[in-house]
Amino acid sequence: MRKNILVLHGPNLNLLGERQPGVYGKRTLAQLNRSLRAKAGNLEISVRIFQRNGEGQLLDLLHRHRRWAHGLLINPGAYTHYSYALRDGIVGAGLPAVEVHLSDIHRREPWRRISVIAPVCIAQVAGRGQGSYLEGLKLLRDHLGYCRPR
Ligand code: DQA
Repeated sequence: MRKNILVLHGPNLNLLGERQPGVYGKRTLAQLNRSLRAKAGNLEISVRIFQRNGEGQLLDLLHRHRRWAHGLLINPGAYTHYSYALRDGIVGAGLPAVEVHLSDIHRREPWRRISVIAPVCIAQVAGRGQGSYLEGLKLLRDHLGYCRPR
């Protein structure tokens, strides 16, 4: 059965390409989304991709698409480090989730090393640039392959 993955990009990721390119790379969000769609096609996955800056907006998308999706790929941006609302939302949606980051949050400022989201995810992939998302997508697909369909 074809799997559906909801992809959520969090705050400031709309500025990819111009935002701290030394940290987040020179490729834009549009380029990243093209790569994600191509990878999803190869993996026979359907994706719906959104970027929002607001925590509530991300939650609204999660709620709206939760029944369509079999899994969630999320870069929560700075919400990673303190959003218990997003964490509760992921648990509430009941979707297996993979948290991804472009940069290696474990080798940056100490406050970035803490993720309140990771404990409710099946995996965290960080520090591989846009490759983190592609790796995350594959991990989710593999995970879903082993799960009973709902
Ligand atoms: C980020 C890391 C976060 O700490 C930061 O707030 C971001 C981007 C990443 O992809 O490396 O906005 O999630």
